[in-house]
Amino acid sequence: MSAQAAPSVTGDDTTTTVVRPVAVVGAGTMGNGIAQVFAMSGRRVLLIEPNEPALKKGLATIEKSLGKLSEKNVITAQASHDALHRIATCEEDGLKLSNCAIAVEAVPEKIEIKRAVHEMLDQKLPPDAILATNTSSISVTELAAITKRPTRFIGMHFMNPVPVMQLVEVVRGLETSPETVAETVALAKALGKTPVVVEDRPGFVSNRVLLPMINEAAFALMEGVADKEAIDTVMKLGMNHPLGPLALADLIGVDVCLDILEVLHRGLGEDKYRPCPLLRTMVAAGRLGRKTGRGFYEYR
Ligand code: CAA
Repeated sequence: MSAQAAPSVTGDDTTTTVVRPVAVVGAGTMGNGIAQVFAMSGRRVLLIEPNEPALKKGLATIEKSLGKLSEKNVITAQASHDALHRIATCEEDGLKLSNCAIAVEAVPEKIEIKRAVHEMLDQKLPPDAILATNTSSISVTELAAITKRPTRFIGMHFMNPVPVMQLVEVVRGLETSPETVAETVALAKALGKTPVVVEDRPGFVSNRVLLPMINEAAFALMEGVADKEAIDTVMKLGMNHPLGPLALADLIGVDVCLDILEVLHRGLGEDKYRPCPLLRTMVAAGRLGRKTGRGFYEYR
């Protein structure tokens, strides 16, 4: 499909279409942030999350974040109110999967879960809709192959916390069309983000570079090179990182870090990506980071 000839699927071309809504599947750490930034950009959002407590938590997180942004005058109180009211949690008039321009999947990094979601989205979305995944570790090409629309399938990798972080890593699968890439780049810009297009290789760019640092910090802790505060302080004060690598692992999720390292290790086949055993032990113990109240640090 040509971006000029056909109505813009992202709905930004006001000469050809009204702005079409967006679906976000998954209301967890990433999904709720993604829904929020779409709503802040003026789009109606269908937020799909079958787990009721997770949905409530996601909506509460959005409300809190919008409140923070309006308190600091980043947005007005009216804009915060309007954004919240653009998000619906079940289909209603004019807000159905069958008229969404794009769906962004942000469900757990388990292939069986993603497979079920992508099969459902592929069936219910209109044929011209873009299907995007926020995966941080699974191959975009592999996920695209689940669907009948590999040319309209793409990675839209947001960073945590989504409302604050500038980057969207746009991941081009083997079959992703140039039009899909161009529309996704335009969409990310419309969200006020900076898109960077990368190829579909294990860890893309972000996690291929970031995760070995976090892994090495975990090895340093396990080997007693220094305690956790010292390791994080070295990286914060010595390298000007906003968070130390261990605190960042807690923000990302220790389980997510382990999953990504497994993908790097398996996909690139080099020992330098071998996950630190301490990460495995922490995941086995349920010390997953901020989301469970305890990771390298404790959270109230
Ligand atoms: N919504 C709105 N505002 C938020 C927010 C949210 N969800 N989270 C933080 N903020 C705001 C705070 O209100 C605060 O604003 P002011 O400075 O105006 O008061 C500002 O952001 C800074 O927050 P804090 O003072 O609480 O803490 P901080 O100074 O440590 O900043 C941070 C928080 C922006 C998250 C910063 O620590 C940071 O940049 N950390 C690194 C984050 C990072 O690397 N993310 C990428 C992770 S990798 C990933 O996501 C991809 C993957 O696949 C694993």
